[in-house]
Amino acid sequence: MPGMTRRDLLASGIVLSASSFFARSIWARNAAVRGEGTLGGADPFTNVIGPREQLLFDSGWKFKFGHGADPSKDLGFGFGQSDFSKTGEFSFAKAGFDDSQWRPLNLPHDWAIELPYVHDDGGAGDSQLRSHGYKPLGRRYPETSVGWYRREFDLPASDRGRRIWIEFDGAFRDVRVFVNGCYIGSNEDGYVPFRFDLTDVLSYGAKNFVAVRVDASHGDGWFYEGAGIYRHVWLCKMDALHLGRWESAIRSVLSGNSATLSLDTIVENEGTQFEEAHVGWKILDAAGQTVATAEAPAQKVDADGSLHFSAIAHLSNPALWSVEEPNLYAAVVTVTVNGAVRDAERVTFGVRSIRFDPQKGFFLNGRSLEIQGTCNHQDHAGVGAALPDRLQYFRLGVLQQMGCNAVRTSHNMPTPEWVEACDRMGVMLMCETRQASSNPSGLAQLETMVKRYRNSPSVIVWSIGNEENQLQGPMAEQGESIATTMVRKCHELDPTRVVTAAVNADNRKGISDAVDLVGFNYHLEFPDAFHKDNPTRPIIGSETSSAVSTRGEYTTDWQRNVVDSYHGVYELPELWWKFYGERDWTAGGFAWTGFDYRGEPTPFGWPSVSSNFGIVDLCGFPKDYFYYYKAWWRPEPSLHLFPHWNWNGKEGVEIAVWVYSNLDEVELLVNGTSAGVQMVPHLGHLEWKIRYEPGVIEARGSKNGKVILIEKRETTGEPVSIRLAADRTEISADGEDIAVVKVEVLDPQGRPVPTANHRIRFKVSGNGVLIGVGNGNPNCQESDKEPQRSLFNGLAQVILQSTMEAGAIHVEAMTDGSDAPALMAANLVVTTIPVQPRPAVPLLR
Ligand code: GAL
Repeated sequence: MPGMTRRDLLASGIVLSASSFFARSIWARNAAVRGEGTLGGADPFTNVIGPREQLLFDSGWKFKFGHGADPSKDLGFGFGQSDFSKTGEFSFAKAGFDDSQWRPLNLPHDWAIELPYVHDDGGAGDSQLRSHGYKPLGRRYPETSVGWYRREFDLPASDRGRRIWIEFDGAFRDVRVFVNGCYIGSNEDGYVPFRFDLTDVLSYGAKNFVAVRVDASHGDGWFYEGAGIYRHVWLCKMDALHLGRWESAIRSVLSGNSATLSLDTIVENEGTQFEEAHVGWKILDAAGQTVATAEAPAQKVDADGSLHFSAIAHLSNPALWSVEEPNLYAAVVTVTVNGAVRDAERVTFGVRSIRFDPQKGFFLNGRSLEIQGTCNHQDHAGVGAALPDRLQYFRLGVLQQMGCNAVRTSHNMPTPEWVEACDRMGVMLMCETRQASSNPSGLAQLETMVKRYRNSPSVIVWSIGNEENQLQGPMAEQGESIATTMVRKCHELDPTRVVTAAVNADNRKGISDAVDLVGFNYHLEFPDAFHKDNPTRPIIGSETSSAVSTRGEYTTDWQRNVVDSYHGVYELPELWWKFYGERDWTAGGFAWTGFDYRGEPTPFGWPSVSSNFGIVDLCGFPKDYFYYYKAWWRPEPSLHLFPHWNWNGKEGVEIAVWVYSNLDEVELLVNGTSAGVQMVPHLGHLEWKIRYEPGVIEARGSKNGKVILIEKRETTGEPVSIRLAADRTEISADGEDIAVVKVEVLDPQGRPVPTANHRIRFKVSGNGVLIGVGNGNPNCQESDKEPQRSLFNGLAQVILQSTMEAGAIHVEAMTDGSDAPALMAANLVVTTIPVQPRPAVPLLR
């Protein structure tokens, strides 16, 4: 709108809209990986289309540690002066190199999770190892900070003439890629996808060799970041005339019952002669029916040239994307020359409108919606940063169960499957780049992030950084300039979304002056005054809470490094939610954090290796705070009573009994006798003090005078048996899908024992493997990879992954002899069903 700034647009309440884009959606995806069980319905986004091939390049790699300081232990890399003097001389990326002693593995891979813990609080300032969760990474640990990956692959002679790219969704960090002896390129940061054109150096009709050096000596963050190729790798083959990578943009503007789609893309011609290219769009609905088409006029694309193509399409009565109904569409974008398809891609998008209103908060599709968000790092029990795709869906599912409707990708560009899961499951996203920087690399990262995800309906706001304290304080002037450049870049690439920054200050200067949406981290003392003085600027709680608690613990103990589940050591969730939940002019906010993550074991140090900030632990097991959010974030009646009632030895001692509920009133009974009825305070909790006696406590929650929910905590008997339960007992036999197994021990009456800490051993056989174990204990230094784990306060987790052969995975769980008496073992069978695997680079035979 000429003459209007972005801020004016916001103030005037003009509706912003967006759509979603997933180049990756062209890949054949099996139902389980996409989490269709959760989403339901047919999915049209499954077919590989057109002549382009996007091949998964994850399996069949070999790995070996290099060395960050000694070239003789680093494949000789950097031994002499002449490493980069000639093309084609890197012998480790050529035939004849002996990698027979290297370890075979499949990607994604995080080697940090496999390392032992090291107690090292040395080093200047914030101890690097504490931040990392005491994994030995960094320049002081050269033996474990550099990793080499190697893969050989065949290329058919028929590929000659195609453009062939290797694409990394992200790797941590400082990556150098070598192919057939040639140095191909590098990428520094740990979160942004990068790709290299290999066309010229490949051998057609022959074997090819890739070597990748990954150096995690430096970090991008101050939390566990993993190490290695922890996201997918792809080999992409396409015609010399093709669509530009992440150049297709689909923007929708809603008006009444129809949407106007602006369709844009770029066609690149890497051939040797001009081409008369046509671009067409076919819009498919969720049932796969064509609901609109559009054509761009043919244009002559010169050799080595690229041209912009655009068209308009209309959708009547579009099925809108929302958190309740995440309806998606697909646009098939096709490039043809004389009727022959030369390239095509399938772009997933959604139609919806968003608006941040400075007086009324956030609106989705014209409806006011509180942002009930959590910040999360990509880190899970057993697997570290290398998450199988399905685990992204599992994690979002856990967060949705407590009513979380938005996530912030703190503090980096997310993995594609996290965004895809948000699109498909109806979770909104605040998508954040790693660093507030307008240097070439900072802007390039931002550009990639915006282009990559700008069509994703889940993304509602871009964030250009987190807690850049210099840029808010001593360097405020530069902060404003840097932010202005970054915000301009976002607007240029995506005029449909606003831009924010997560600011741990009063937002009166620096970066804050340049952003559209003002983000407050913590500091509940600032937003009121800011709003009063700046009534036209919308506000969000970009990061709040930092409520620390340890699952299943009810007394803070500085000797054991545990924090109680009532008050924690910082603030209660209700403190921030009462603030944001009760102020209509805020858009809501994001709690720090949804899941626990490794590193930052605040308020402790060694031997704590994981954070305590999560509302759920590292496995996704809910802490009690989870139920506070469930009560106030979800619409259905809810009631949660804690603590457990196994306090052997504390007979007669007063125990705090709390209830989180959204009902009108709750009565507590102790062994059948009423301990009183209390009204539930809005956005608060209930509390009784009860002298412990074994038996049962019972909460009876009523609405409109009628008891509608009852929760009990019973003193259990001694543990006698183990129980295993998988989140799904049927998974895809595609070598990628997983089942997440909960491990508990039961008393003779079949009740889970909440205080059990038995050590359990697992035997996995059949058509699957154990890829990780965990228990959510931030102080546990047992291996994540061995087939055994202690329970922590009654729970542990095992992650199983299918192989490519259909059949069954058998799991047996037993005590390992260290706890007497032995418990009755448990068995579990997970069926793996045949599916068409994603197209992949074949393994060498
Ligand atoms: C914030 C920061 C987060 C995390 C958190 C811990 O200041 O943005 O990344 O470190 O503190 O409380």
